Amino acid sequence: MTQDKLTEQPVAITREFFWVGFIGKGTRLSCNPYLLLDEGGEAVFFDPGSIPDFPVVMRKVIEVIPPKHISTIVVSHQDPDVCGNLAVVEDVIDREDLKIVGHSNTLRLMDHLGLKSGLYAIDAHDYRLQLTSGRILEFIHLPFLHAAGAIATFDRASRTLLSGDLFASLEGAASIFDNAKFPHSMDRFHQTYMPSNAILQRGLKSLEPLDIDRILPQHGGVIGGDQIAVAFKHLRQLPCGADLMKDD
Ligand SMILES: [Fe+2]
Ligand SMILES: [Fe+2]
Repeated sequence: MTQDKLTEQPVAITREFFWVGFIGKGTRLSCNPYLLLDEGGEAVFFDPGSIPDFPVVMRKVIEVIPPKHISTIVVSHQDPDVCGNLAVVEDVIDREDLKIVGHSNTLRLMDHLGLKSGLYAIDAHDYRLQLTSGRILEFIHLPFLHAAGAIATFDRASRTLLSGDLFASLEGAASIFDNAKFPHSMDRFHQTYMPSNAILQRGLKSLEPLDIDRILPQHGGVIGGDQIAVAFKHLRQLPCGADLMKDD
């Protein structure tokens, strides 16, 4: 696949997971919205993104599926780069039964976006969501990484972890498969946005029991295969946030 195809087109990461993100040529942080296409045509949209990225993201969604097939939007937290475009996204999807899924500590804040869709609090549903096919998405609360209600989603059927800002990179990946600077590509993002190494270690520990084949972060490249153990090991020892603040 040429570079253009890896940035200008939707990219199939697996048979079921598609990257529909935007890689900016300017200074704006590049984001990774993903689609999961399940059996029977049902789709789940993860972290749809921002208003300025909306035209590109929605064009890519439409190249993969009719938006009406999206039954569920999962938001890892309430940042503008994650859910700034939700009001227009839900208008385009145009389904009365559209669900927006997140932790209640996220949904409480997102309520101020004036959305029409039903809100599904994972902590009121045993941290799970069952799709029509019977497929179950599992959610892991990652408190303060970097939001109070931050979550990761684990699709056990494909062993895919959608990690939100955890495992993300600020370093401007050239495509979703660009991990040239890995694992140091993750340093600046975590040092800047994660509150401390102790809290980072706590979140990583809650993910350790999962048998993960690939990590899809909200910024930067996909982390797969042998890189997964490297990523855990690297972040476990990375000082960040308050660890780097000086008394003065
Ligand atoms: Fe964020
Ligand atoms: Fe983000």
